[in-house]
Amino acid sequence: MGAGPAGLMLSHLLHLEGIESVVLESRSRAHVRERVRAGVLEQSVVELMQQTGVGERVSRQGIRMRGIDFRFDGEPHLVEFSAAGRYAMVWPQHELVEDLASARVAAGGEILYESAVTALESLDARPVIHYGGKKLGCDFVAGCDGFHGISRGAIPPSVLKEHDHVFPFGWLGVLAEAPPAWPDITWGCHPREFAMMSMRTPAMTRLYLQCAPDDDAANWSDERIWSELHARLDLPGGTKLNEGRIVQKGVAAMRSYVAEPMRHGRLFLAGDAAHIVPPTGAKGLNAAMADVRVLARALAAHYKRGDDGLIERYSETCLRRMWLVERFSTWLCTTVHRFPDTDAFTRRLQLAELQYMALTETGRRSFAENFTGLPVEA
Ligand code: FAD
Ligand code: DHB
Repeated sequence: MGAGPAGLMLSHLLHLEGIESVVLESRSRAHVRERVRAGVLEQSVVELMQQTGVGERVSRQGIRMRGIDFRFDGEPHLVEFSAAGRYAMVWPQHELVEDLASARVAAGGEILYESAVTALESLDARPVIHYGGKKLGCDFVAGCDGFHGISRGAIPPSVLKEHDHVFPFGWLGVLAEAPPAWPDITWGCHPREFAMMSMRTPAMTRLYLQCAPDDDAANWSDERIWSELHARLDLPGGTKLNEGRIVQKGVAAMRSYVAEPMRHGRLFLAGDAAHIVPPTGAKGLNAAMADVRVLARALAAHYKRGDDGLIERYSETCLRRMWLVERFSTWLCTTVHRFPDTDAFTRRLQLAELQYMALTETGRRSFAENFTGLPVEA
């Protein structure tokens, strides 16, 4: 269920294992193709794409990241990923989705767009999926239908445990036709509130501004956007952020959420359907990729060796890693934003957290290790 990054990558990995799948997606291919979302891939996701024949474009056109430039206390602090001997890559989510969708189509895979799943039944025995007035019988169901999908709701409330934390702010995300002014993704940890300059291509910047959680993008004129970005990101006497035509803007709320368990009978949850993180750590898409790697291995062991051990442990394996990802994303989110009602002591501690991360060897290594991606277990 779902032709986002999780559903498509799972279908691709299963195909390479000789396992047949059908992807059911509620929206059109054009809609999925054009959605502007995440932009950063962990090293192991890039390697997975390269090893499974969908990495040609990311290798050629992706932007290899050297680190993150944290700006606080009026100074730049570049934390390099070489501190952990690793790298990350800028490759927009919609391009990854296109890489995977084209590979599935070229291999004769079935992706049924505009086919919303409406109900699931017999998840303990032989599952049946209801979509668009039709039924599909299958061995297993992968709920890769995102945070607002229906698969999570198929786990009985007596079994499902939900862990939820909502932050008192959101991000206004902006896509602009302007070349990145600086070579590295730049975080303005500014007393006015947080801002970020990221990139999508050498000609397009992706920008974020901390805003109210229920803010409306219509409240943000182009003039206000640029003036706040300059105030939070530019350094006195330094190169100024490049301005350009704004082609897209939208507000995303900020939340940490984990559903446990991630398996119920023959239903597996993967990606945003099971967990979300605040976007600070650039982890949502990468976490979805980690889940489906574990799931593809578990299903391959089932079909090839009749071994269901990995299926039994699917939820535990994914959640062990996911809670570390939640820890990192939540910690970063708490450290870089201005909270509406914190006292001066707490704000001073936030600065100390940033200083420890950027100015000590242990801090830099820890940040680099987490940002470029923790290991994915079998
Ligand atoms: P999704 O990409 O959500 O895919 C789920 C798919 O299932 C969708 O195509 C949906 O249409 C489909 N679907 C839903 N219900 C049904 C149904 N009933 N039947 C069939 N199909 C269904 N992460 C970052 O790391 N950095 C970012 O900057 C960032 N920005 C984001 C901005 C926004 C507005 C959003 C919503 C998310 C953002 N994320 C970001 C998170 C990241 O994009 C997600 O973690 C990632 O998309 C997860 O992939 P997924 O495949 O699990 O889910
Ligand atoms: C993006 C980049 C980041 O470094 C991050 O932490 C979150 C999002 C982005 O390019 O969208």
